[in-house]
Amino acid sequence: MIHKIVCYLKFLWKGKTKYSIQSPFVHDFIERVLDDKELYYSFLAMNHLKSKLQKNKSLLSIHDKGAGSHFSNKKTKSVEQIAKTAISSEFKAQALFKLINLYQPKIILELGTSLGLTTCYLANAKRNSEVITIEGSKEIHEAAKKNFNKMGLHKIRALCGGFDVQLPLILQNMKELDFVFFDGNHTKEATLNYYHQCKAKANPNTVFVFDDIYWSKPMTSAWNKIISDSAISLSLDLFSFGVVFFLENRAKQHFQIIHSVNLN
Ligand SMILES: C[S@@+](CC[C@H](N)C(=O)[O-])C[C@H]1O[C@@H](n2cnc3c(N)ncnc32)[C@H](O)[C@@H]1O
Repeated sequence: MIHKIVCYLKFLWKGKTKYSIQSPFVHDFIERVLDDKELYYSFLAMNHLKSKLQKNKSLLSIHDKGAGSHFSNKKTKSVEQIAKTAISSEFKAQALFKLINLYQPKIILELGTSLGLTTCYLANAKRNSEVITIEGSKEIHEAAKKNFNKMGLHKIRALCGGFDVQLPLILQNMKELDFVFFDGNHTKEATLNYYHQCKAKANPNTVFVFDDIYWSKPMTSAWNKIISDSAISLSLDLFSFGVVFFLENRAKQHFQIIHSVNLN
């Protein structure tokens, strides 16, 4: 927690608002992903699903294959508890939806399905994309599949298993990967490992989003390593998550963007 507070103060000190950023590409990102207040029709259904999950007392057994949680590492959790602590905020999920709307990726991968709510945003943003999501905890994976069916999102490929096993398997049959949301197993080694595996399938239009980049010192260290990789030409630090681009023919740039999204 102290790490996060110190980083946030530094972020506020160094960060820029859109008014002091010259890049047209980044301006477009801020206006169409962060500032856009449009409420898309599918948001209503996803809000409804979220409020139902937040009242669902059913218990699920948890087999956490990752770095655990800051809130609780119990072996059994209620759906309600997971929905209140482990899933992306509405603002972040909507930002991911708008990112997909803007860059139109054809193949989308999520590492860390949880109850599948953010997956629903990813899939609803571009209904003809291929969406693959991986979850290591069997009962959570089953609950997510039920949610996809309720939302009529039958094309989502929900895989159950550890990222270490599932990720190489899906990547070996994939030519290119257009969008990845890294949202599970927040350790430095694992994050860098998944990044390098996915990078091998990236193209110049690929977008990677990393959640919780200030969750811990090792996560921040992983993020700093990723943005300094020569394959990344543009990186955007929104504090609660980071976005990287592989755009060609650009001088390397990094921006810390001050916005209401930062603490969401
Ligand atoms: C933060 S939650 C994902 C939240 C989800 N993306 C959302 O926004 O609703 C992380 C999930 O990743 C799963 N996970 C963590 N480490 C994993 C691993 N090594 N392999 C497979 N799943 C893992 C956890 O079980 C957990 O459900």
